Amino acid sequence: MTTADTNKDRVYIFDTTLRDGEQSPGATMTLEEKLQVAEMLDDMGVDIIEAGFPIASNGDFEAVAEVAKRSKNAIIAGLARAIPADIARAGEAVRFARQGRIHTFVSTSPIHLAHQMKKTEEQVLEIISATVAQARNLIDNVEWSAMDATRTPIDFLARCVELAIKAGATTINLPDTVGYAVPEEHGAMFRAIIERVPGADKVIFSSHCHNDLGLAVANSLAAVKAGARQVECTINGLGERAGNAALEEIVMALRTRGDAMPYHTNIETTHLSRASKIVSAAANFPVQYNKAIVGKNAFAHESGIHQDGMLKNAETYEIMTPASVGIKETTLVMGKHSGRAAFKDKLRELGYELGDNAFQEAFVRFKDLADRKKHIYDADIVALVDDEAGSIDDRIKLVDMEVVSKTGGIHRCDMTVTIDGEKTTVSYDGTGSVDAIFNAIKQAVGLDPHLVLYAVDGVTGGTDAQASAHVRLEHNGRIASGNAAEPDTLVASARAYLNAVNRLLIERGAAAQGAMESAAS
Ligand code: KIV
Ligand code: ZN
Repeated sequence: MTTADTNKDRVYIFDTTLRDGEQSPGATMTLEEKLQVAEMLDDMGVDIIEAGFPIASNGDFEAVAEVAKRSKNAIIAGLARAIPADIARAGEAVRFARQGRIHTFVSTSPIHLAHQMKKTEEQVLEIISATVAQARNLIDNVEWSAMDATRTPIDFLARCVELAIKAGATTINLPDTVGYAVPEEHGAMFRAIIERVPGADKVIFSSHCHNDLGLAVANSLAAVKAGARQVECTINGLGERAGNAALEEIVMALRTRGDAMPYHTNIETTHLSRASKIVSAAANFPVQYNKAIVGKNAFAHESGIHQDGMLKNAETYEIMTPASVGIKETTLVMGKHSGRAAFKDKLRELGYELGDNAFQEAFVRFKDLADRKKHIYDADIVALVDDEAGSIDDRIKLVDMEVVSKTGGIHRCDMTVTIDGEKTTVSYDGTGSVDAIFNAIKQAVGLDPHLVLYAVDGVTGGTDAQASAHVRLEHNGRIASGNAAEPDTLVASARAYLNAVNRLLIERGAAAQGAMESAAS
């Protein structure tokens, strides 16, 4: 897909979970996690995977290059500012792909030109011609984005797009960078540019919407109606601030309302539920219960009238079936007598292929869980495999903890951890049990991070359900998230907190990350 496709109703899905999504505070993923997400996106039929921002750090470069090497079908894109070194680095990273793409962008709105870029319109036009031509000399597949397009006067935007096309861009992206647009005007912008810019029929137009006003999906669909044939989106709507347009919502809206929007994508929708879980676990980002398509409650019918209707005919209240997005009834799976082969089969059925060491580790934890919990459901297995707290590389590990909590009295936590292999025991009081646990950890590790988020959720129903705990911490401008699942809520909370602290201690090319954050949103 380098020039406009002959199939005029096909909408290409460009997933930027690994780039715009991963830029979301606290959503940093490890290389392994990025590879797992990329493989899942490729398998579900995503057309273009934006795998990262290669100039941002060596880690980002390595991730884009590795995703590119492993890609089976998808085009792999690397992001680059309109700077020669960025473009060269992106070209180097994506050259390993079956088909690579350089995605280069520059701001076009008056407010960005005046305050961020400190450049005139004429200078921006020269930059566009030079940088798109540089990218096009490296690779046949070049996307150019007009950052803050929706706040750019249409005449200037048209001049920019015309030059980008002349310089060799094959895809033109008009982002709503700050989530400011409303659907009618977003559609009108695409219509105007497509109608008046010479060469518009030779390229694919793309929409990239942020969700600051909750309109990202509506704006993306308006762009499609107006002629855009690529939509940039993320799983679970992950992304800066209020996030990006959610892939699962766009895909299911197009599929469910084909009568109103006669367009189609290549996405295998039965993968959507699993994709949501994988990204939520990798990015340590819980999905809100009532999130459309993939939220826990998306297909739950609570009210009596709804339940009555559903029992008589599911279509009375259900516009999509849970099966169409891959939601299966959570089933009772195994108990403590289940062996390795059964566990491996179950993992395969749930979509996990673990290497020997990871499998052995997961099996030991499954046996341990089965000793403590009578009924084990699919969701328990998923939580167990996705729980990364306590990995071998962690500098700080929980050895033991004891919590005393008395109504109207003390709340104390005695805890032993190892730090780089050395044992430390601390005792700390708090206003409640969780406060005492978190204080004890802070004392043991000598860090005082700010707690940004703490949430606990039951993995399944019932009082013996595992608790899944999420913690997000901020320390010296860095944000890290952690999660853990355990039958005991307090132990899950402690392990999630430690998981976040361990992630805070993993250094990431800080200077490069700063550059990335100021340049792209
Ligand atoms: O939101 C935005 O404008 C971006 C560009 C880098 C495409 O993410
Ligand atoms: Zn963006």
